[in-house]
Amino acid sequence: MEKVGILVVSYSARATAMIDAFKRSQNYHVKIYVADKQANPFNMEKAEKHVIIPDLNVEVICRFAKKYQREIDFGIVGPEKPIIQGIRDKIESETDIPMICPTKEFAIEASKVAQRRLFEKFAPEVNPRFRIFNPKDCSNVEEVRKELFRWLDELNNQVAVKPDVPAAGKGVGVWGDHFITREQLFEHFMANYKHGAVIVEEKIEGEESSFQAFCDGKHLVPLPETRDYKRAFDGDKGPNTGGMGAYKDKGEKLPFMTDGDRQKEIEIVNRIFRQWAGSTGNPSLRGIPFYVAFIHTGKESKILENNSRPGDPEIQAILPVLKDDFVDICYKILDGNLTRIEMEKQAAVVTYKAPPNYGGYVDAFPDKVNKAEIGTPVDLTQAYELAVKYGDKIRIYPASMEKRNSETYALKSRAVCTVGIAETIEEARQISLRGIKAITGGALWHRTDIASREHIEKSIRHMELLRGN
Ligand code: GLY
Repeated sequence: MEKVGILVVSYSARATAMIDAFKRSQNYHVKIYVADKQANPFNMEKAEKHVIIPDLNVEVICRFAKKYQREIDFGIVGPEKPIIQGIRDKIESETDIPMICPTKEFAIEASKVAQRRLFEKFAPEVNPRFRIFNPKDCSNVEEVRKELFRWLDELNNQVAVKPDVPAAGKGVGVWGDHFITREQLFEHFMANYKHGAVIVEEKIEGEESSFQAFCDGKHLVPLPETRDYKRAFDGDKGPNTGGMGAYKDKGEKLPFMTDGDRQKEIEIVNRIFRQWAGSTGNPSLRGIPFYVAFIHTGKESKILENNSRPGDPEIQAILPVLKDDFVDICYKILDGNLTRIEMEKQAAVVTYKAPPNYGGYVDAFPDKVNKAEIGTPVDLTQAYELAVKYGDKIRIYPASMEKRNSETYALKSRAVCTVGIAETIEEARQISLRGIKAITGGALWHRTDIASREHIEKSIRHMELLRGN
């Protein structure tokens, strides 16, 4: 069997899912070299070499890559920070290792202002009405306030406030969800404005879907749609998080989407890609340059934001159901000949467990937290036993966790996710939840309505209403 060495830059279960997909290769004998944010127990077990780089500093990651460059055939990057900071440019200029992620120039996730301007040029219809407030243009607080309030008058307060720089979906504040008075909105606005530009844009009513596509520089190969659950608590309540779970259906689209919605998304992203990549393509775009948060209004599809990397937890719903070998997919990305990807016709549901402080859970539900368990080790043994029982139908992916001696502890962010895979979304959800229940310790909590029938039916009814059916 052919040998392959792969560098994985890792943070969260997104990279754990990549490592799992690589290690499940039937065509290659895979050795993984992980530059990890923490002592992730799964990654440590699977890695040939594992290094912990808590700030994922690109210089340090590059030194690790250099040390093993004779054994590494290519690298892939999960988290946004090193991509934005130019990890690909650095490693490719200092080693012979080709990297799968966009170059710094094309990591458009770095700026929401740049995204809005790019869309304005090539697909203006996806932008809501927006205005950019830049502290470079005005430092007088009273003037900014007047200007902002004039804009709020025009949009009848129905706005989303977005910092220019990425905040993993957590810097966005929405009227009616995060604030109900102008003073609250202004406070959120100023907290961001003091650090840089802020976009204030029309709030769009609709249902969200996450579009992701692999790109070899010449072709864009769309992956099935997924739905992310951004808010912390059941019923889409509480603050935004990195995403408490996600699902995909058996086919390419989500139950509340029409074929037309899906086609429209593909057409829009391809149009932007074609303009951006030029007629001969552009290898700098390799990876997942488009992970787009769309919102469907029943009449049109708008873009909330674009990211230059795989979604977390969205990619965990995709990688376990690839029919093609993930190593072959990566080689095709590097060779510029990835024209299609075969997927299993299976639904997948991802549920995350998080520690009590995450998403403000302990403050919102102090009585639900098992105080005796706070800070205790997390036991994944029973969940792994389930994985043996269910075989290909369940995955257990540790995320923000670290191994200390023989125990595993949750850190500050989403700790571990389980992926259920089945013919239907409901079956997949039940499997994912069984995995979640088998994980004990650490006072971890989870949303109970990820991909529930009620939640999905609510989305379907909402879209019917918006379409005027
Ligand atoms: N699911 C949100 C993100 O990956 O940014």
